[in-house]
Amino acid sequence: MLTKLTTLALAASVLAAPATEVVPRASNAKVCDDASKLCYAEYVASNSVSYRIAIPDTATTAAPYDIALSIVAPKAIGWAGIAWGGAMANNPLTLGWSNAATAVVSSRHSTGHTMPVAYDGASYTVLPSSKTNATHWQLDVICTGCSTWSGKTLDPGAAASLAFASAATAPADPSNNASKFGIHNAKGKWSQDLSAAKLTGFATLVAAAEKGSA
Ligand code: HEM
Repeated sequence: MLTKLTTLALAASVLAAPATEVVPRASNAKVCDDASKLCYAEYVASNSVSYRIAIPDTATTAAPYDIALSIVAPKAIGWAGIAWGGAMANNPLTLGWSNAATAVVSSRHSTGHTMPVAYDGASYTVLPSSKTNATHWQLDVICTGCSTWSGKTLDPGAAASLAFASAATAPADPSNNASKFGIHNAKGKWSQDLSAAKLTGFATLVAAAEKGSA
């Protein structure tokens, strides 16, 4: 009986999978970073790029709130990013890529399926825990402006529809956050339970992580 139910559940989840190049797999486990000491809800795409999110446990829809985002990618990934509204167009896009021993954040926005331009509706603090090592690059940022756009605020108590995209080719000028870059070769959408991303003591932990004293 158990086997039958499991088979049915598996079949249903396969049928419900979105038609994208990358079949996403999600995990609800909290992942804590040794360097920043921040703990995130994690989503891992099948090309092994992790998108980790933490929000204040005090967040409400009444006011914008900061979001801690960590993107951890194998070095073969040229750039990777999140679309906070779950689609490419008309919402804040947060991109990251490797640069020397660290990583760069680029704030973008697009009104369609064309090269996203710079977006000043969001601002970022890059944490010193960002790095590039022999196998991976990791971008850790605090975003102000990713939880709100066009008059709507992501509900911190509910599931958010998010999207990711990544490319094998790195941006033309990795040291420049306004660099041009090419189209993704992987993309997908997932539903992220934001209540699972709530972090107690967010402001204090973030302040320590920003100083590198975590
Ligand atoms: C040079 C930059 C980019 C170009 C030329 C581009 C182009 C396109 C095109 C033509 C599509 C529709 C066809 C397809 O499904 O492949 C698409 C879909 C999509 N793109 Fe991009 N893209 C770029 C950057 C980005 C970035 C930076 C993100 C997110 C961080 C992103 C997220 C998505 C997503 C989630 C979709 C799925 C459909 C949708 O949500 O609209 N793209 N893109």
